[in-house]
Amino acid sequence: MTATTTTTATPILETRALVKEFQQGGFLSKRMLRALGGVDVSIQPGEILALVGESGSGKSTLARCIARLEKPTSGQILLDGVDVLTTEKGHASREYRGRLQMVFQDPFGSLNPVHRISHFLERAIRNQERLTGAALEERLESLMARVDLDANMLASYPHELSGGQRQRVAIARALAVDPKVILADEPTSMLDVSVRIGVLNLMRALRDDKGIAMIYITHDLASARYLADRIAVLFAGELVEEGESLEILANPAHPYTELLVSAVPDPDRAGSYDPERRAQLRQRVLAADSCPFDGDPGNPCSRTEPVRHRVGDAGLRHLVRCHLYRPATAAGANALVPTVEDVAS
Ligand SMILES: Nc1ncnc2c1ncn2[C@@H]1O[C@H](COP(=O)(O)OP(=O)(O)OP(=O)(O)O)[C@@H](O)[C@H]1O
Ligand SMILES: [Mg+2]
Repeated sequence: MTATTTTTATPILETRALVKEFQQGGFLSKRMLRALGGVDVSIQPGEILALVGESGSGKSTLARCIARLEKPTSGQILLDGVDVLTTEKGHASREYRGRLQMVFQDPFGSLNPVHRISHFLERAIRNQERLTGAALEERLESLMARVDLDANMLASYPHELSGGQRQRVAIARALAVDPKVILADEPTSMLDVSVRIGVLNLMRALRDDKGIAMIYITHDLASARYLADRIAVLFAGELVEEGESLEILANPAHPYTELLVSAVPDPDRAGSYDPERRAQLRQRVLAADSCPFDGDPGNPCSRTEPVRHRVGDAGLRHLVRCHLYRPATAAGANALVPTVEDVAS
């Protein structure tokens, strides 16, 4: 919802007020953990959105709900404008998986060691279409070429491949069904630094050449800046800030985003790695009790939902939800926006 405020095209993927609660403490327990507190996120065709936030902020839960590996407690998921939770009950249908694929963090655990690489790709292809003989061979080889792997590796077992090569196989498997959206949950975090960039470049090429939209989940803001058109920040299950990648990194408006950004080394930016500023921010952010919006001990607004503010020009698509946010200037581009509907209008 929020990301489309300046565009009129239908988002390829959208969540509306998506809530996920997990039961804690066994079957009889009534204790619930709210992993997602009503998340609105959307992406346009061919756009890469980086989803960032610290461990436990709900990034994987959001991706798993969208991939329909988890059942959301409430809210909507729209693929190409169609609410999938009401039109497709239960698990993801074959048709849904044909349009939306997930790539996981662990390239070592995601490929069963007893099968050859060709098996994983063939199975994915057969899920969508019946190919045999030369047509199948050709498709397998083109998938391998698409992820820059030698076709000879089709006969290899996973243990014969490096982590980077396995992650390319996982991406090829996702591509086998020709998806419109890929959800990549920390796809490079277990890879050697030297091969990460290759996988990021591959993802970028898939966006550019095939128009695939992606949600790229990461802890690493530097790679988000490199790859993503936009960044969305999750904090304790709440989307607190989003906008064009360079804008978010240059002008973080939420203390939590500023904390994340301040950890990224940047010789051109004053304050990166400033331990004193980071300590201040951390204290402010951690002062928030269970409510991520209650950052100021003296602030009476605790437990109420802050409205969304637009930061800067509308073209930057920069929105923040924080009671502490004050526009940098009283008038002009940074004027306070009272509700999201007003933002959209
Ligand atoms: N199946 C589950 N059962 C109970 N609680 C869960 C389950 N999955 C996730 N959670 C909880 O939901 C919250 C969000 O978890 P999630 O895995 O989405 O975080 P994350 O942002 O992906 O973290 P990380 O960066 O460490 O991968 C955490 O508090 C986690 O303990
Ligand atoms: Mg995770």
